[in-house]
Amino acid sequence: MTDSAFPKLRSRAWFDNSENIDMTALYLERYLNFGLSLKELRSGKPVIGIAQTGSDLSPCNRHHLVLAERIREGIREAGGIALEFPVHPIQETGKRPTAGLDRNLAYLGLVELLYGYPIDGVVLTTGCDKTTPACLMAAATVNIPAIALSVGPMLNGWHRGERTGSGTIVWKAREMLAAGEIDDEGFIKLVSSSAPSTGYCNTMGTATTMNSLAEALGMMLPGSAAIPAPYRDRQEAAYHTGKRIVEMVAEDLKPSDILTREAFLNAIVVNSAIGGSTNAPIHLNAIARHIGVSLDIADWQEHGHDVPLLVNLQPAGEYLGEDYYRAGGVPAVVAQLISRGLITESALTVNGKTIGENCRTAEIEDEAVIRPFDRPLSEASGFLVLRGNLFDAAIMKTSVIGEEFRGRYLSNPQDPNAFEGPVVVFDGPEDYHARIDDPALGITEHSLLVMRGAGPIGYPGAAEVVNMRPPAYLIRAGIHALPCIGDGRQSGTSASPSILNAAPEAAAMGGLALLRTGDRVRIDLGRCTAEMLVPPEELAARRAALEAEGGYPYPAAQTPWQQIQRTLVGQLDTGAILEGSEQFQRIAQTQGLPRDNH
Ligand code: FES
Ligand code: MG
Repeated sequence: MTDSAFPKLRSRAWFDNSENIDMTALYLERYLNFGLSLKELRSGKPVIGIAQTGSDLSPCNRHHLVLAERIREGIREAGGIALEFPVHPIQETGKRPTAGLDRNLAYLGLVELLYGYPIDGVVLTTGCDKTTPACLMAAATVNIPAIALSVGPMLNGWHRGERTGSGTIVWKAREMLAAGEIDDEGFIKLVSSSAPSTGYCNTMGTATTMNSLAEALGMMLPGSAAIPAPYRDRQEAAYHTGKRIVEMVAEDLKPSDILTREAFLNAIVVNSAIGGSTNAPIHLNAIARHIGVSLDIADWQEHGHDVPLLVNLQPAGEYLGEDYYRAGGVPAVVAQLISRGLITESALTVNGKTIGENCRTAEIEDEAVIRPFDRPLSEASGFLVLRGNLFDAAIMKTSVIGEEFRGRYLSNPQDPNAFEGPVVVFDGPEDYHARIDDPALGITEHSLLVMRGAGPIGYPGAAEVVNMRPPAYLIRAGIHALPCIGDGRQSGTSASPSILNAAPEAAAMGGLALLRTGDRVRIDLGRCTAEMLVPPEELAARRAALEAEGGYPYPAAQTPWQQIQRTLVGQLDTGAILEGSEQFQRIAQTQGLPRDNH
């Protein structure tokens, strides 16, 4: 590619501005000190950022430290200059009190880097749950050419000849521990078996979901999301990604060209077909708001609910990441959806082609893992959006409702879509862990468990604590799931049929704040309602009393960021993003270049 192929590089304002020679000298000198030459910095080659999310603190993404070498080779070969820099690390299972706090922080940091430095295009190294949305949100805000590279899942986990999937095995192991089937050491061994290599969760958890959706959105090279981290194909994808971003800069192909409403609706459909995480609506709605596309929680039910489940991955199914890749990954799923007219084929992707051109002819290589559309694993695998006096919006993944659960809750022939029962309310996971096995709570197979104080403000950060196991005495009696409702999130690796992401949360004085243990709650999946069966006067009196006490109580902030985020963060239905004026999420793309710094 010739240098004149890059007409309007923002990096020239730093490195090659003859009208501003004293500042140009200042900008140049420090980037020379590790061996870049004056000639190349002033050659008109594009400067490509490699936004590095891998580190020892974020093992899911750590393999990006290796892949970055191949990304650089691709960038160099296509005529670009690579500058690699760290992104605030996020690790889902290591960060306390929850990695939910860190998505918006990594986002903020990355926006400052992409906007304030001489970067013409960027490779976003995605992986662990929140690293993908954080990177895509930042790229949307700054709107410079950007391409995502997934780090890929770990190899399949195995234990005694059976696949053990990350996260999913934890929920099973907890039940086995509670039932006395394994001891502490057996618990750790069983859980560790699910993580045999570098990479992210090998289940259809939030990481596989969000990387699949990044590809479905068009922000990742076709076929690259599902490649397992250690595979040689992953190295090759890194190289092609590096090459392609340089071409994208030449073409001025920006996130706003790709992240259209059609692309988001495509991703919603794909999310249902893959059995994607309940975190997907939070993150996709957040990305949409940063690029200025209108996307609503209601869109998830309208466009996603009726789509069947095609991908047979844990937690909803049997298989794991290696199988998903071998069976054809995202393109094979998209091709099935295209065959039924469920995908807008004209949506543009990072390779300059449409999703239709990329995926239309992709074949399923193993029908046990990816089902053809006419033989799905289950019908209607998307989310229902429930509303009522408990909350304005919460979601439920009805496809994970198992036979045992259905038989106990949804078997009334007069009313096959509704159930009701007395609630037991927990204020945070500590309360739940301390009391769940206490017989005095009187939890029966007809009880509903409620977790509150777990939202973006209350926790803070919205933790994955809503799915709760029944008391040990019920598990021993064969009851493996009770309905759970909460204002927090649930891990994408859990198959519990919970009612999640309730907004507004208790800490924002949503209806959940007024609920008391012993109240009856009625869930109607036909009408999509969730109601406390408490008279309105009584609820009004409870609200007045709680307000007089200063509102629903939640723990004090422990870090400056916790405190800052609490003052700005919105609720889960609208993406739990930092709220501001109308242009707030897109300021950087509307303001031109930043001022000189000296
Ligand atoms: Fe990082 Fe699952 S914990 S991907
Ligand atoms: Mg998680």
